[in-house]
Amino acid sequence: MADQTTCFLILHFLSILLLMSCLTTDAKILNITTDQSALLALKAHISYDPHHILTTNWSSSTSVCNWVGVTCGSRHHRVIALNLSNNGLVGTIPPHIGNLSFLVNLTIRNNSFHGSMPNELSHLYRLELLNFGYNEFGGEIPSWIGLLTKLQNLTLVRNNFKGKLSPEIGNLTKLTLLYLGSNNFEGAIPSEIGNLQNLEILSLGCNNFFGTIPLDIFNISTLQSFSVVGNHLSGTLPSDMGHFLPNLEEIFLGMNELSGTIPASISNASQLIKVDLSNNSFSGLIPKTLGNLRLLQLLNLELNNLTIESLELSIFSYFSNNAYLNQLLLSMNPLNGVIPNSIGNLSSFLKTIDLTGCNIKGNIPIDIGNLSRLTYMSLGGNDLAGPIPTTIGRLSMLERLKLFGNRLKGPIPSDVCYLGRLGELFLDGNKLSGQIPESINNLTSLKYLNLAFNQLTSRIPSSLWMLTYLLEVDLSSNSLSGSLSLDIGNMKVLTKLNLSRNQLSGHIPETIGGLISLLNLSLAVNQLEGSIPISFGGLVSLVVLDLAGNNLSGEIPKSLEVLRYLKYLNVSYNKLRGEIPTQGPFVNFSAESFMSNDALCGVVRLNVPTCKDASLGPKKAMGVRILKYVLPTLGLTIFVVSVVLVSRKLHGKKNSKLSNNKDSMPLSTWRRISHQQLLQATEGFSANNLLGEGSFGSVYKGTLLDGTYVAIKVLNLELEGAFKSFDIECEILRHIRHRNLVKVISVCSNIDFKALVLEYMPKGNLEMWLYSNTHSLNMLQRLNIMIDVAAALEYLHLGYSTPIVHCDLKPSNILLDEDMVGHVADFGIAKLVSDGISLTQTMTMATIGYMAPEYGSEGIVSTRGDVYSYGILLMETFTRNKPIDDMFIGEMSLKRLVEESFSLSILEVIDSNLRSNENDYAAMETCLFATMGLALHCCADLPEQRIDIKNVLARLNKIKLKHASNIAGEKQGVDVRNVGNPGFDSLGKSPY
Ligand SMILES: *[C@@H]1O[C@H](CO)[C@@H](O)[C@H](O)[C@H]1NC(C)=O
Ligand SMILES: *[C@@H]1O[C@H](CO)[C@@H](O)[C@H](O)[C@H]1NC(C)=O
Repeated sequence: MADQTTCFLILHFLSILLLMSCLTTDAKILNITTDQSALLALKAHISYDPHHILTTNWSSSTSVCNWVGVTCGSRHHRVIALNLSNNGLVGTIPPHIGNLSFLVNLTIRNNSFHGSMPNELSHLYRLELLNFGYNEFGGEIPSWIGLLTKLQNLTLVRNNFKGKLSPEIGNLTKLTLLYLGSNNFEGAIPSEIGNLQNLEILSLGCNNFFGTIPLDIFNISTLQSFSVVGNHLSGTLPSDMGHFLPNLEEIFLGMNELSGTIPASISNASQLIKVDLSNNSFSGLIPKTLGNLRLLQLLNLELNNLTIESLELSIFSYFSNNAYLNQLLLSMNPLNGVIPNSIGNLSSFLKTIDLTGCNIKGNIPIDIGNLSRLTYMSLGGNDLAGPIPTTIGRLSMLERLKLFGNRLKGPIPSDVCYLGRLGELFLDGNKLSGQIPESINNLTSLKYLNLAFNQLTSRIPSSLWMLTYLLEVDLSSNSLSGSLSLDIGNMKVLTKLNLSRNQLSGHIPETIGGLISLLNLSLAVNQLEGSIPISFGGLVSLVVLDLAGNNLSGEIPKSLEVLRYLKYLNVSYNKLRGEIPTQGPFVNFSAESFMSNDALCGVVRLNVPTCKDASLGPKKAMGVRILKYVLPTLGLTIFVVSVVLVSRKLHGKKNSKLSNNKDSMPLSTWRRISHQQLLQATEGFSANNLLGEGSFGSVYKGTLLDGTYVAIKVLNLELEGAFKSFDIECEILRHIRHRNLVKVISVCSNIDFKALVLEYMPKGNLEMWLYSNTHSLNMLQRLNIMIDVAAALEYLHLGYSTPIVHCDLKPSNILLDEDMVGHVADFGIAKLVSDGISLTQTMTMATIGYMAPEYGSEGIVSTRGDVYSYGILLMETFTRNKPIDDMFIGEMSLKRLVEESFSLSILEVIDSNLRSNENDYAAMETCLFATMGLALHCCADLPEQRIDIKNVLARLNKIKLKHASNIAGEKQGVDVRNVGNPGFDSLGKSPY
C-alpha cells in the first residue's frame, strides 16, 4: 500500500514538472522566429523528400506563413496548423516541434516518419488534431498524451507503436475520433477509454490486445463506429450491450476469441448498419432480434458455433424485415436448417449470401430466383439435395455461384447460361447428370468452371471452347465421351485443364499446341488413342502433363524437350514405343513417368531397355514439324518477354525512389569480400562443403577467418538470368532487415564471379524437416515457423515504403536457425512493386503449385500472390503433402483436399506424424481447423478476396496462443535444441 502511494506521488510530481516545463517554455518569448527554427529543424530531420516539397519551398527567404503545409493564425501570426500528408517524406520528428506552441492541427499522415514521438510534443497543449497515421513510428504512447486535453482527433493507425496503452488516454475527454488500429499494442484495453464520453469512432483493430472489452465502452452513447477486429480479446458480451448505444452504426468484433451468446439486446442499437462478429467462438442461437435492425446492410457471423431455433429451421425468416441487407455471411456455423421458399422475401438489396458449410438440408427453393441483385452466392459444402432450380437463371447480376459439395441431382439447367456476368461456376462434387448445356458459350464472363465429380454424360460441347477467356476448367471424374474438339486450341489464356477420368476417345488434336498459357493438363484415364501430337512442344508454360491410362501409341515426341518448366510428366499405362527423349526436362524424370507401355527404350535409369540405332528418316520429318508448331510459339514468348523487359526499363524510372537514394537509406554496410577469402573459407569450394544446388548456382558452407560459419551462394554465371537474379537479390536485400529474413554478411562481385555471403542456418530448411523420415515437427513448432514466415512477409509487404513481393515462397526457401526460428530466403526473383498495386511482369521461374492463379495466367505480381503461396505453404506444413504431389494430378489439388476435409474430418488429411505424436486430439483438431481455414482464406481464387498478411499474422498468433493454452499442462513441445538435423546433407537440395 505504502509502495503504491509513493509511486503515485512520484508520478504526480513528474506530471507537475512536465506541466511546469510547459508553462516555462511558454513563458520564454516564443514568436514566429521560433516557429521558423522549429520547422527548419524538422526539415533538417527529413532524410528523403521525393517531391522536393521542403527542399525547394521551406527557405528562410520567404515567410514561414507562406511555406507549403503551414498555416498561421491571423491575429497572433503564429503557426497554427502543419499538414505534410502524402508527401513520401522519410525522417524523424525533432524535439523542436514542441516550440510550435500555437499549433492546433498537426497532420503528417501517410509518409515514412520513424522513431518515437518526442516528449516535447506534450508542450503542444493547444493541439486538437494529431494525425500520424500510415507512418513507421515505433515505441510506446507515452503517458503525457493525457496532457493534450484539447485533442479531438488522435490518429496513429498503421504504425509500429507497441506496448500497453496508457490509462491517461482516458483524460482526453474531448476526443471524438481515436484511431489506433494496425499497430502492435498489447495488454488490456484500459477501462479509462470508457471516460471518453464524446467518442464517435473508436478503432483498435489489428493489434495484440488481450483480455475483455471494458464494459464502459458499451456506455459511450456518442459512439458511431467501434472496431476491435483482429485482436486476442476474450470473454463475453454484456447482456445489455445495445441499450446505451443509440448512435452506433458499425461494430466490428471479428477475429477475436469472444464467446458466449450474442445478446438479443444488440438490436436496441437501432442505427446499426454493419455488424461483424465473425471468427470468434460465439455459440447459442442467432438472436431473432437482429431482424429488427431496420438499417442493417452487413451481417457477418462466419466461423462461429451459432445455430438457429430448431423449431424454426428456416434461416431467412430471421431476416425478412432487414430491408437494406446486402451482405449476409453465415458460413461455417452449424445452422442445421433449411432454406425456405420465403428466401425470395429477403431484401431486394441482397448482393452476397454465403452459407458455406452450414449443414443446410432440403432443396434449393424456386423463389431463390427473386434475389435479383445477387452477385455472390455460396451454398457449398452443405447437404442440399434435389435439382438446381431453373429460376437461378433469373439472377442476372450473379458473378460467382458455388454449389459444390452437396447432393444435388438432375441436369445442369440450361437457364444457368443466362448468367452473362458469371465468372465462377462451381458445381463439383454433386450428383448432377445429363449433359453440359450447349448454350454454355453464353457465359461470356466465365473464368473458372468446375463440374468435376458428377455424373455428366455425352460430349463436351464444342461451344465451351468459344469461351476463350476461361482460366481454369475441371470436368474430371464424370462420364463424358466423344473426342476432343479442334477448337480447344483457341484457349490462349487457359492455365488449367483437367478432363481426366472420363470416357473421351479419338485422337488428341494437333491444335492442342495453341494452349500457350497452360500450366496443368490432365487427360489421364480416358480412352484416347493415336500418337501424342508433336505440337505439345507449343505448350510452353506447361508444368504438369498427365496422359496416363489411355491408349496412346507411337513415340514420345522429342518436341517435349523444349518444355523448360515441365516438372511432372506421366505417360504410364499407354501403348507408347520408341526412344524416350533425353534432353530438357527429361533429365529429371524417373521410371514412374513411363511405366507399363508397349516398347519404350532409353536410359537405364528409366527401367526400359536401351535403344538400338534408329534410322534418320522419321527424325527429319519430325524436325519439319517442330519448325511448324513449336517455333511460332517460341517466337511469341520471346516477344512477350522483350516487351516486358522494355516496360520494366521504363518503369524503372518510377521506381527510382529505391534505387537512386543510396545515401539516405539505412543501408547495412556490407563489407566486401574477395574471391581469395572465399576460396579459403570453403577449402577451395570443395565438395565437402557443398550444401546444395539451387536454381541459379551452388551453396557452400564456409568458415570466415574469425571463425563464423557462413553460407556462400555462388551464382552460376553461365545460366542465363543468373546476373539478373544476383542484382535483384542484392538490390532487395540491401534495403531490408528483419529477424525472419536471412541476413547478408557480404557480397563478392567481380566480372566473372558473383557470390552472396549469408548467415549460416544450421538447421537446414523446412522442406527437409517436413519430409524427413527420422524427425518430425510438432504442432507448436510448425505454428511458430509459419508465424515467422508471416512476420517476414508482413515486413516485406508493409514494412517499407515500396512493397516487396517475394514471388517464390516454398518450404525449401524457409531456413531454420539454431533455435528453429524461420528465416525467409532466396530473393532471386523477388519484385519491388511500386504504389502497392499489382504489376504485370514476365513469367519468371516461380514454383508451380505455390503460384497464385493470376500469376500463372497473366503474370500479375502482387503481394496478394505471396499470400496465396503462403496459404499453400501453410497447408503443406500441416498435411505434409506437396501441392504438386502425384496424388493430386488426376482430380485433386492440395487446396481441394483441404477444402473437402472440412466437411469430413480435418484429421484425415494432416501429416500422420502429427497424429501419432500429439496427445490432445481435440486441441489439435481445433487448431487445425482454424489454421486450415486461414490457409483457405489465403488461397481464395480472386486476389481481392485474400486476407492480407497483417491479418494472417494476427490470426495465426491467436491460433497459436489458443493452442498453447489448450495443451497447457501437457508437454509444451520438445526442446528443439536437442533435436538433430534431418539429413541436411543427404537431401542434396539447396537451403538457400
Ligand atoms: C522574436 O524574438 C526574438 C528574441 O526572443 C527576437 O530577436 C526576434 O526579433 C523576434 N522576432 C520577431 C519576428 O518578432
Ligand atoms: C484543423 O482540422 C480541422 C479538422 O480537419 C479543421 O476543421 C480545422 O479547420 C483545422 N484548423 C486549422 C487551423 O487548420
